Amino acid sequence: MDKKLITSILDSRKTKNSITYKDFKLNPSDLLLSWGKNKKFVIRTYGCQANVRDSEIIRGFLLKIGMVESDTFNDADFILFNTCAVRENAENHLYGELGLAKKRVRTNKDLIVAICGCVMQETKPVKFILDHFKFVKIIFGTSNIPSFYSLLEAAIKDDIVAIDLENNFDQVFEGKEDLNLSRFSKVVAYTNIMYGCDKFCSYCIVPYTRGKERSRRKEEIINEVECLKRLGYKQVTLLGQNVDSYGKDFKSSYTFASLLEDVAKTGIERIRFTTPYPSDFDEETFKVMKKYDNIMPSVHMPLQSGSNAVLKKMNRRYTKEEYLELIDKLKKHIPDVAITTDIIVGFPSEKDKDFNETLEVVKKVKFDQAFTFIYSPREDTPASKLKNASSKEEIKNRFNILKKLVDDIAEEKASELVGKTCKVLFETVSKKNKDYYSGYSEKGKLVHVRGKSDLIGSIKKVKIIESHTYSLIGELENE
Ligand code: 5AD
Ligand code: SF4
Repeated sequence: MDKKLITSILDSRKTKNSITYKDFKLNPSDLLLSWGKNKKFVIRTYGCQANVRDSEIIRGFLLKIGMVESDTFNDADFILFNTCAVRENAENHLYGELGLAKKRVRTNKDLIVAICGCVMQETKPVKFILDHFKFVKIIFGTSNIPSFYSLLEAAIKDDIVAIDLENNFDQVFEGKEDLNLSRFSKVVAYTNIMYGCDKFCSYCIVPYTRGKERSRRKEEIINEVECLKRLGYKQVTLLGQNVDSYGKDFKSSYTFASLLEDVAKTGIERIRFTTPYPSDFDEETFKVMKKYDNIMPSVHMPLQSGSNAVLKKMNRRYTKEEYLELIDKLKKHIPDVAITTDIIVGFPSEKDKDFNETLEVVKKVKFDQAFTFIYSPREDTPASKLKNASSKEEIKNRFNILKKLVDDIAEEKASELVGKTCKVLFETVSKKNKDYYSGYSEKGKLVHVRGKSDLIGSIKKVKIIESHTYSLIGELENE
């Protein structure tokens, strides 16, 4: 972040501003408590689970000062955008949403609009926002969440832009971030086991926006999981950009496999984790997964490309052969494991030959689900300097071919489940039909069942009666 540039923009706007608050206030002042009472807030979260978790922390801060959550801008007194920088379209979506917020500011001059998350770690978008959306009052980065109360107080008191973009990438804020945490769900929870990423895949902005890898202490994590269990949570998902790098920054012999085993021993009903990095994922972890019934048999392992030449240019540290071998090993330990993945189409050096290799890997593995993305150049990443080997049309065409293959495989796999029974943890009422309740099977398949609201939070045996590409319809089995 170019601090001088940001300061000069603010100076030219003649706005009073604050660049950094190192003053972490984790308890609200009287001013915040009287300002917040019964005011309405909206949080819009984009991107990955790391952002969802961050939003849960800020949500906790807002609830603690007496604010009430709302899902519409119409009556909001405070709007927060928690942004994602992984692909360009998420950034563009933010600008669209800011346009809508601007309309609200016209009718409510006291409305406070705040922006945080990965996009705020980049200089250009911050400059763009300060130039074009002058009503934005608070801006902070991914490692500045503990400054939130100070920033909000500053924005309420004065006509200023309250900014904290100081990188605290060497800190974990152990315990402090969680102080006010208010989770969106009462059934399933996410727990960070580490922050940041050291992998530097050549296309990816995350190592720049989230900083270097740092693990949370195991005691903190186990404590959190035990607390979740006491509160009645049925599932915890352990979060990290590369969960299998857990503990490497401590140079400790306590690995991800050790942590997973200790989390399993807490006895919480369901454990998931995301995301393992293929070349670091090891048999020790597979053994632990096999040993404990409460670790769910599903793994999300990004492939990104099935071409060794492209993987190399992506700075991914495995070959397609190694990826396939790893899946074989995993299946030896957990034969019915569900495997999902991420694939990027149209990486600059990708040609038809490379793409066909990706298709081959997809056919071999038969992923339960694959999230497919068209490559999006991200400023200052090494890949953004590479020349394109294919045209936009070729890439779009490849994307459609891959999407169809992935969907066909998912549909076929889903249809094989009809008539079978699985255990579903119900999380919510169905979005489409209020008579149905939705949850996930052990293997992570979305299942809808006709029932009553008391299903939420329970794990039930369900017989699958109908399949769609990415969802199943089931009936409760008599227990
Ligand atoms: N363009 C397209 N997709 C990307 N991803 C990460 N960076 C980019 C990019 N620049 C995808 C990867 C990653 C997922 C979260 O987002 O597939 O696994
Ligand atoms: Fe990005 Fe690669 Fe790190 Fe994943 S492992 S966050 S794709 S740099």
